Parts: sequence; structure tokens; C-alpha cells
Amino acid sequence: MARKSGLRAARDKVRAIGILTSGGDCPGLNAVIRAIGKSVGREGVEVFGFLEGFTGLVENRYVRLYDKELSGLLTVGGTILRTSRNKPNKMPTPDGGYRDMTGAAIETYHRLGLDCLVCLGGGGTQKSAYHLMKEGDINIITVPKTIDNDVYGTDICFGFDTGMCIAAEAIDRLHTTASSHHRVMVVDIMGHNAGWLALSAGIGAGADVILIPEIPYSLDVIAESLIDRMRHGKYFSIVAVAEGAISKNEAEQRDKKRDDKKDKAKNKKKKGKEDVTSKRPVSVLLAEHLEAVTGLETRVTSLGHLQRGGVPTPTDRVLCTQFGTKAAELVLNCEFGNMVAKRGQEFIPVPLKDVAGKKRLVPVDHDLIKAARVVGTCLGDVWESVW
Ligand code: F6P
Repeated sequence: MARKSGLRAARDKVRAIGILTSGGDCPGLNAVIRAIGKSVGREGVEVFGFLEGFTGLVENRYVRLYDKELSGLLTVGGTILRTSRNKPNKMPTPDGGYRDMTGAAIETYHRLGLDCLVCLGGGGTQKSAYHLMKEGDINIITVPKTIDNDVYGTDICFGFDTGMCIAAEAIDRLHTTASSHHRVMVVDIMGHNAGWLALSAGIGAGADVILIPEIPYSLDVIAESLIDRMRHGKYFSIVAVAEGAISKNEAEQRDKKRDDKKDKAKNKKKKGKEDVTSKRPVSVLLAEHLEAVTGLETRVTSLGHLQRGGVPTPTDRVLCTQFGTKAAELVLNCEFGNMVAKRGQEFIPVPLKDVAGKKRLVPVDHDLIKAARVVGTCLGDVWESVW
């Protein structure tokens, strides 16, 4: 009974909401749109879906999402609203420049008489949503999405499980051909700042070497681990590399630059022998080096956007439904200014101000790192003991 009267009160306050998907896509976006739309639709709330992320909000381009539009979306990859990486305060202009269009975005929200804007996206989206909230008296709820799994404040983002399963299956398949040919297979996995995807897929599929941005690697250590495998009669190896993995020398240079920006030019000239700073993917550079040192034939497979395509896994579908229904609950209860987070088994609101502008990287003492080390996986560094 109490629930009904609570919802009645909410219905009076919340009559219309907007939804947008922003940043890189991933499987599960449609499942979240469906869960939010169906949940609030049952309470008589109108739903506007903005097209191409914040661009649609700025340009007043949207579709109405009724029950019919929300049907059949649970398993569909991509996003029916399409997406873009454009930010309200940095919209591209036809002459190749950028313009702050925050005002236009705010105007659309108020002109349509919206009571809340729900933004589905990764770190950049959380930041843009917070920007709108501060600038325009806009009620915001966000949901964390990204195969990188690096949104701050939540244990998991939707899309991650699907990306991980795709990458793990790819490694499984590479295992058999690597073994047939006695080759080293370097697998390039997405994740430019955080290594959750490479680490989880690598552990799940038994990669012999896993390189992530959080643990700068030494080429010598990796080569030695491959040679050691050969000595033990294992003539093939799988190296899972996050796209943002960096060498120790690169990491040192990066930290030095951060400490002393004045030395920028000088630091560029000082490249160590292990430095692999280049526009070429780290996987390709690694493969060249490892082939030269080990004498083993080496091949590179870049999984790229395959990891973001296709249907979401059942685990992601369940997660998306829970994320979406919790977001709807926050909307109906007028608990604005929050991101829905999963902590343990619970879905909770986390203030957007505590999330915006932060990243959740892999802690170097995380249990996953320990697990990888104790089963003998090389993480590209020298370590003593995890116990
Ligand atoms: O942020 C998600 C992500 O998939 C990253 O892992 C990757 O570096 C990036 O997006 C690729 O972006 P785009 O689709 O714009 O090439």
C-alpha cells in the first residue's frame, strides 16, 4: 500500500524523462533503455530518446519511446538511439572547431518539460552529465556503461561481461592454432586506461602473459618468461595485451612529465632502450621484439571493435535489467544527481559529484592480480611474493 501512494506522489512530480546513450557503444545499452522505459512507462511517464548522445539534446533531435518501441530490445546489441562522443560544452562545428552548446542542451530539456535526463555512458558521459546538472538546474540520473569497466564508484559496468566473454573466446581459439604452429600469439584487447578487460579475459582463457596499463612491463621479463616456457617444453604462448599497456621506461617518462612539465622537450629526446613510444599499437611492437628475442614465430590479433559488437551475454542482460530498473526507481523517487552503482549484490545511488572526472583502475594488489601471479601468469614485472 505504501508503495502505491509513494508512486502516486512520484507520478505527480515526474511526467516526462529523456534518455540518451553517449560515448563508445557496447552490448546492453538497449537492454537498459528497455528496462528504464518499461518501468517508468508503467507509471505513466513519457519517454523521449535523444539521438546520438548529447548531440540530440543540443539539436533537439529525439524519438518518442512507447511500449512498442521498447519491445524486443533485451538481446539487441548497439543502441537504438545511436551514440557519439560529443560533449555539450565541446560540440564540433562544420569548420572543424568546437563550440560550447551547453545552453542549447539545457534549453531542449526545459522546452520539452522534462523532469529528468537519464544518461547511459562511461567516464566521459558521467562528466558531461555532471556538467549539465551544475549548469542548468537539470535532474540527472546516470548508469555506468563500458567494456573497459573503469567507471568510478561501481564494482561493475554493463557491457564488460560481454566484452570479456568475446575476448576470452578469442584467446581460446588462438590457443589451438598457437599450439599447432608453436607460435607466440599476441592478442590486442581494448582498455586504454584500465586493464580489467585484458586481465579478466586473460585469466579466464589462461593467457601466459597479461599486460595491463596499471603494471608497466619490462620486455626482458616477458621474453624471459616465454623462453622459460620453451625450456619446459611449452613451445607456444599467449600474450594478452591491453591497448594502453606501457613499458617501465614509458611509465617513468610519463611520471616525470607530470612532475615537471617544463622538461617536456628534454624528456622526449631521452628514450631508454626498452622504450616503445610510438603511434604503432603496443601489441605490434611487442610482437616484433619478442620474435627477435625468443626466435619463436609471432603473430598479432587485434580484437578491436569485435569486443563491442553483437548481443549482450545473459549475465549482462540481467545486469542491464537491474541497472535500468534501479535507475527508474531513482527517477520515480526523485533521487536525482546520482549514478546507479553496483556494490556487492546491491544496486545503490552514488552522488554524481563523487564519480565525475574519476577512473576506477585495477589496484595492483587486487585479488585478480594475485590469482594471476600464483598460477604462474607473467604480468611483465618482477615480483617477490603475493602472500
Ligand atoms: O572506452 C571504450 C573503448 O572501447 C576503449 O576500450 C577503446 O580504447 C575506445 O573505446 C575505442 O573508441 P572508438 O570506438 O571511438 O574507436
